[in-house]
Amino acid sequence: MKPVIMTTKLQKIYNMGKINVTALKGIDIEIFPGEFVAIMGPSGSGKSTLMHILGCLDTPNSGKYFIDDHEVSAMKKNQLAKIRNSKIGFVFQTFNLLPHLNILKNVELPLMYSGLKPKERTIKAKEILNHVGLGDRLSHKPSELSGGQRQRVAIARAIVTNPSIILADEPTGNLDSQSGNDVLSIFKELHSANNTIILVTHDSNIAKVAQRIIYIKDGEVADGNFTL
Ligand SMILES: Nc1ncnc2c1ncn2[C@@H]1O[C@H](COP(=O)(O)OP(=O)(O)OP(=O)(O)O)[C@@H](O)[C@H]1O
Ligand SMILES: [Mg+2]
Repeated sequence: MKPVIMTTKLQKIYNMGKINVTALKGIDIEIFPGEFVAIMGPSGSGKSTLMHILGCLDTPNSGKYFIDDHEVSAMKKNQLAKIRNSKIGFVFQTFNLLPHLNILKNVELPLMYSGLKPKERTIKAKEILNHVGLGDRLSHKPSELSGGQRQRVAIARAIVTNPSIILADEPTGNLDSQSGNDVLSIFKELHSANNTIILVTHDSNIAKVAQRIIYIKDGEVADGNFTL
């Protein structure tokens, strides 16, 4: 089987005036279609930096990144936006919902570029929000919801475009254990539906749900890229 995601010698350097911070020192990873992979590693090791590059939210300084044989690292901004919109759903630790929009509008937003008519976008967004158990909260603003509910909105927003790759950076990091488990069961279900999932976590109980754990240390893949 061909990997859906492949990186070779991925490097990211943050330029901070006189100081350069090398966040990624040459990451080689392969992720296969339908895999559920957890990324673990100490704080500051480069996990979010890697996720942002995988999610086409940022670009590497050097190295190559391929999604389905397309070289993402060679793409221009508008091509990146296109691939991000069609193939990737991203879930952040801090939800990143738009505070002034109700949750229905938040979830409709990624469909703006889908070619669907406004009515169809609303139907689709409602369907997904129903699915994550928030059908009775459509007109609520994010601030009127609990953390777990907000994260479920964020997941709904990430999956409304039917991406095959779902990236989540500590999606349960700000949640109590019950809400965290609710969120985790949505990821399990997405995995059962053959989506590829990459999830960063500090919680080994959450990582256990994954089929494989990739450890990152000091901007590099650490030994022990093993299957549980
Ligand atoms: N925008 C930025 N500008 C400058 N340096 C950054 C930036 N983002 C991250 N860094 C640095 O890059 C390194 C990796 O950061 P990153 O956020 O990827 O770590 P992480 O593994 O996600 O950590 P955590 O577990 O705390 O979320 C750190 O040394 C950090 O200080
Ligand atoms: Mg991080």
